[in-house]
Amino acid sequence: MSDQSGKRTVVTGANSGLGYVTARELARHGATVLMAVRDVQRGEKAREDILAEIGTAVEISVVHLDLADLASVRALVAQLEGTELDVLINNAGIMAIPRQLTVDGFERQLGTNHLGHMALTFGLLPNLLATGRARTNTRIVTVSSGAHRLGKINLDDLMGVRSYSPWRAYGQSKLANLLFTLELQRRLDDMRAPVNAYSAHPGYADTNLQAVGPAMRGDKRGQSMMAWANDKLAQPAPMGALPTLYAATEPGVPAGSFVGPDGFLEQRGYPTVVSPNSAGRDAQMARALWTASESLIGMTFQKAVEAGTSAP
Ligand SMILES: NC(=O)c1ccc[n+]([C@@H]2O[C@H](COP(=O)([O-])OP(=O)(O)OC[C@H]3O[C@@H](n4cnc5c(N)ncnc54)[C@H](OP(=O)(O)O)[C@@H]3O)[C@@H](O)[C@H]2O)c1
Repeated sequence: MSDQSGKRTVVTGANSGLGYVTARELARHGATVLMAVRDVQRGEKAREDILAEIGTAVEISVVHLDLADLASVRALVAQLEGTELDVLINNAGIMAIPRQLTVDGFERQLGTNHLGHMALTFGLLPNLLATGRARTNTRIVTVSSGAHRLGKINLDDLMGVRSYSPWRAYGQSKLANLLFTLELQRRLDDMRAPVNAYSAHPGYADTNLQAVGPAMRGDKRGQSMMAWANDKLAQPAPMGALPTLYAATEPGVPAGSFVGPDGFLEQRGYPTVVSPNSAGRDAQMARALWTASESLIGMTFQKAVEAGTSAP
């Protein structure tokens, strides 16, 4: 990674797993990093670990963000008003959990992984547009998954009220991450905005992600199986973070690209531009999901752009 000095970045879910590595490596390469976390105490501990590992001469701080609560997203956006941002990394996520709702009544995986990040992106768009007008390589990176292939966007039952499966809901949310990037880039292109959108996926990486679902179900056997599989099959988290870091920092990656590992079945390896399945390239569905999501979060891209245009 080239020197990132002078760049201001936000990483969601930066206290653990891929987000932690992403924040650490951006800071190591000189970027100013805001670690956006839902548990500030654990965020501060992660920050101290990063400082202990790479030295104290880095600019890294912790801010509160609960993506499962739109009021929390709005609070962070208000806190950052007027702050220049070069890179927003929508990394935080939960996987294959029993059906639960966010504070705003959304199915929790869609609400956290997609809707919370969409609201955050709209809220921070003025910051990114302002930076983009002054500097190059302003980017929004959203972390999806190979599991988008398990997903289908159920526009008539987005929240899984009529039918819910933890994995299908995860797949839907990760497909939504891809369709969000597709439509976002189309709209940024339309307005010739100095900001580009990317998505990335880590392959299979050893993090806390796999343990959360079984733990919430009280499934000890599931937890041990996931731990065993992580140990035997997953690549380490620092490898899993490479596609995100590449999408966030590598010059010349085409706008709108999906970046993943180059190895067997995209499960491991070094970052390269990969292709989503056909559902992940469905421009019509991307627009339909966008419209439905705007109405759910009560925010519009148009308003975000207007706020960005009037920002100094
Ligand atoms: N690991 C893999 O093999 C893999 C594969 C494909 C895609 N991914 C994607 O990679 C991303 C990072 O996951 P990971 O593997 O690094 O898992 P992880 O270690 O469990 O990290 C997930 C992060 O998201 C945060 N988070 C969860 N709910 C949140 C909320 N409501 N508000 C704010 N933050 C929240 C978690 O915070 P807490 O610590 O407070 O829970 C944690 O910091 C996710 O989007 C995931 O879907 C991972």
